[in-house]
Amino acid sequence: MAKDIQDYAQAHSGYNNVGMSRRMVLGSTATLAAAPMAALGAAAPAAAQGTAQPPPSPAAARDPMPTGRVTESGEFLTTNQGGRISDDQNSLKVGPRGPVLLEDFVLREKINHFDHERIPERVVHARGTAAHGYFELTDSLAEVSKADIFQRVGTRTPLFARFSTVAGNRGSADLARDVRGFAVKFYTKQGNWDLVGNNIPVFFIQDAIKFPDIIHAVKEEPDRGFPQAASAHDTFWDFISLTPESMHMIMWVMSDRAIPRSLRMIEGFGVHTFRLLNDAGQSTYVKFHWRPKLGMQSVVWDEAVKINGADADYHRRDLWNAIDQGSFPEWELAVQLFDEEFAKRFDFDVLDATKLIPEEVIPLRVIGRMVLDQNPGNVFAETEQVAFCTSNVVPGIDFTNDPLLQGRNFSYLDTQLTRLGGPNFAQIPINQPRCPMHNFQRDGHMQMGLQRGRVSYEPSGLGGEEPHEDPRAGFRSVAAHEEGDKLRTRPESFADHFSQARQFFVSQTKPEQNHIVAAITFELSKVETASVRSRMLGQLANIDNSASPDRPARLARAQHPGEGQADAQGTDGRMPGVRRRRCKDCAGIARCGGKCRRAAQDRAPKVGGIAGSDGRAIKADFQLAGGP
Ligand code: HEM
Repeated sequence: MAKDIQDYAQAHSGYNNVGMSRRMVLGSTATLAAAPMAALGAAAPAAAQGTAQPPPSPAAARDPMPTGRVTESGEFLTTNQGGRISDDQNSLKVGPRGPVLLEDFVLREKINHFDHERIPERVVHARGTAAHGYFELTDSLAEVSKADIFQRVGTRTPLFARFSTVAGNRGSADLARDVRGFAVKFYTKQGNWDLVGNNIPVFFIQDAIKFPDIIHAVKEEPDRGFPQAASAHDTFWDFISLTPESMHMIMWVMSDRAIPRSLRMIEGFGVHTFRLLNDAGQSTYVKFHWRPKLGMQSVVWDEAVKINGADADYHRRDLWNAIDQGSFPEWELAVQLFDEEFAKRFDFDVLDATKLIPEEVIPLRVIGRMVLDQNPGNVFAETEQVAFCTSNVVPGIDFTNDPLLQGRNFSYLDTQLTRLGGPNFAQIPINQPRCPMHNFQRDGHMQMGLQRGRVSYEPSGLGGEEPHEDPRAGFRSVAAHEEGDKLRTRPESFADHFSQARQFFVSQTKPEQNHIVAAITFELSKVETASVRSRMLGQLANIDNSASPDRPARLARAQHPGEGQADAQGTDGRMPGVRRRRCKDCAGIARCGGKCRRAAQDRAPKVGGIAGSDGRAIKADFQLAGGP
């Protein structure tokens, strides 16, 4: 077997270069004791390498910290303290009918553990699904990057990929209109590299300082707790209508891209401009692209709505089933490479994450493929506990000054301290690098390692075998020259918010453009505040008049064929809908009088309402297609 394949097979069947077998991830086997040792850089035990395990040394037998973990296979049930359980059906009572005794430590421990099973969900991208796989290099980037993963054609690197929606809570539906997260953790020989991207090549905002605002705006409204997993509400469009830099992203999010047919059929983008660095320290700008082998496909909105009702887990089920059946999804990894001089020629700034680099200008160069070939063994242990971070890079990959990227580099690690309960989450198997690790970071919540020795600092002359720096192969940042005044401002080069938005819209086919208009119409129809709707129409007019729902709305108001109008019946606590439509015979609209008028909700073909026979506007609470 080729070395790379062997490496992959080893890494894939386990975390064996950190001394653990795959079964450990699932919570069993006798080699568990090796894990924390390996995290300290100790040699992997023989059993983890697939050979017979030697008898434990006397020192090992005396080890004060055997790291046996609770497993789900074995002869007897035990408590977490290791005591065998005699009866797992009944709590300890005084007499058969109680009372239950506080003394019952078996009951208390079991319920106590259950009570703490949940951890905070991610503040964004809470709903996700993931798989293991590998990346295979098909075209070497050695001339521009010293990263080991990009050197030798044919090298396979194990990885874990998580796809997600952004806005919805963990229990929301898969087919929400939303951006899809596309996060990949590569377990390279030089440490973990996380490419934490989306299925849309641009983003809503240019500066990380606005991220809490855009997310607060799109999440459920805080006073009422709804709607969730939906951007079709006032706070989102209020923010967007006041944020012209979002217009390009809005075009993409209102397009069919935001309702994919399958996670196997989405593209992925690193979004930011990153840097590659070669051995000589030369920097090349790079944009990363994932392209699905199955091609890109979407559903239409009516299908999405129906699928969400019929099977809210549609995407995760589809991905799981495909992998389970051996139909492994695959993506090409492509790059756009350019240098500083080329970057200066664009009429936008490559540090602005609301802009993309046209593929006609810099064609994609395919450099490898990703195959997802193994479902997670346990969704909590892996999909939920995986911690991606844009600042997880390896020598040969570096950041640019994109202010959104710089903020992300801080944010992920920070949030994970809370989400995963402390600074030791890199010791969770799914997050562990598959290369040796040595440092003097110590202690903290959930420390799993037995950190031996007297020396926990550097430099030291006491021990002699402590790890030290590696100036040659260690990570070095690009030697960029930086100077300037300290200020809070946006550069002029970030100022054009509409050109690429327009280019995207006109690049769409007619049916796709119609979908965008319909999506904006639907979303704005859910916005109760008329001034937000009109502000948004003003923004859209800067992109392309035909992208604005205003025109179709006015047309619909003027031309809707009459059907006769149905009055609400009764108001005893119910909320009848009143359809406001022009009467076939008299071309007028009969108004419903009396009590029901106050309780009724007006529906019309468009939320702008409809003109009454006397010419006065009758407003609508819901668009017919948008209300319940
Ligand atoms: C180009 C822009 C961005 C992209 C492509 C992006 C992508 C992602 C993805 C894919 C995830 C899910 C990771 C997972 O599956 O666990 C995620 C999570 C997250 N993102 Fe972003 N994001 C962007 C911007 C930002 C910004 C500007 C911030 C904050 C300044 C931010 C903060 C977060 C946080 C806090 C999480 C949750 C992480 C966790 O709990 O593990 N993101 N993002």
